Amino acid sequence: MRALVTGAAGFVGSHLCQQLLVQGHDVLAVDKLTPYYDPAVKQQNAATYEQAAPLLAADVCAPAVLGLLPEVDVVFHLAAQPGVRPSWTQFPRYLRENVEVVHGLLEAARRLPAPPRVVLASSSSVYGDAAAYPCAEVDATSPVSPYGVSKLCMERLATAYVDAFRLPVTSLRYFTVYGPRQRPDMAFHRFVEAALDGRSVHVFGDGHQVRQYTYVADVVEATIRAGTRDLPPGTTLNVCGGEPTTVNGVLELLSTLLGAPVPVTRLPAATGDVRRTGGDGARAREVLGWQPSTGLAEGLSRQVAWHRGRPRPMRTVEADAELAAL
Ligand code: UGA
Repeated sequence: MRALVTGAAGFVGSHLCQQLLVQGHDVLAVDKLTPYYDPAVKQQNAATYEQAAPLLAADVCAPAVLGLLPEVDVVFHLAAQPGVRPSWTQFPRYLRENVEVVHGLLEAARRLPAPPRVVLASSSSVYGDAAAYPCAEVDATSPVSPYGVSKLCMERLATAYVDAFRLPVTSLRYFTVYGPRQRPDMAFHRFVEAALDGRSVHVFGDGHQVRQYTYVADVVEATIRAGTRDLPPGTTLNVCGGEPTTVNGVLELLSTLLGAPVPVTRLPAATGDVRRTGGDGARAREVLGWQPSTGLAEGLSRQVAWHRGRPRPMRTVEADAELAAL
């Protein structure tokens, strides 16, 4: 298979490229290296596979990238403006990266005589605060953050292209992905870095919010399967991990892994944070033959090992990003 991966220098995208190459696929890797977090970190992510697939630093809608579409069997579109909390003030950026770019991609794909399969990275945040859990793909969507709105808009746009042109698009709703190279604005990354530096971790709200954390290698496996199977156009799937866990529960686990209590500073709850995520994984099991295989304790300990092996100067940059994010 020949695959175009967008967002290839990001957290999930870089793992996806590596694994595609391990499985013997051809990879065309594209990433715009936006400065949402330090682009040097993204370049290090890409360095893990760049000998086999050099990174093209470009916007997805650049002619040089859209011109690759006729040459590929599948597009894994992971490029996005991520992050729930900054999306209130920076919504134009979310609209551009999560909606307009997808429009450009789908519009170019549908004009081809043999369009590639397109796999879109969507999000558990499309469900919002659901009436009941676990959420199945047919359940109501009601995002509570501008970020979630942008991802739902992306999904609906894809559905329009499926209905009008039978474009072979699949949307994957990732549930809070974690593991080595996790984005520096995300909870586990911030928690582990703070704990290793002897700083207190910042918890938004009471810490009783629940997430169904999903280990990155599991997410990558589900994503590759979605790109290699002949799924009905318009298929939407939850890609969700094991037992839903509270933030306080994660911190207990982290204390156990580090062998010392993790000091906590409580901050006001973040607006737009859902109280809980929890997905029904039955459809992904059925159509992809996929289910998560890495439990939270194992996955978190692998992420901790990755943080321990990182060079110290990185942390200064990320501490600044942390303050800006607050
Ligand atoms: C994550 C990603 O950032 C989104 O891009 C993704 O689409 C989303 O998962 C999803 O599953 O849909 P989030 O669940 O907010 O969003 O992930 P984290 O940043 O890891 O936060 C998890 C929880 O920890 C949240 O309740 C958050 O408020 C809390 N948190 C985060 C803290 O208490 N302190 C922090 O320093 C960071």
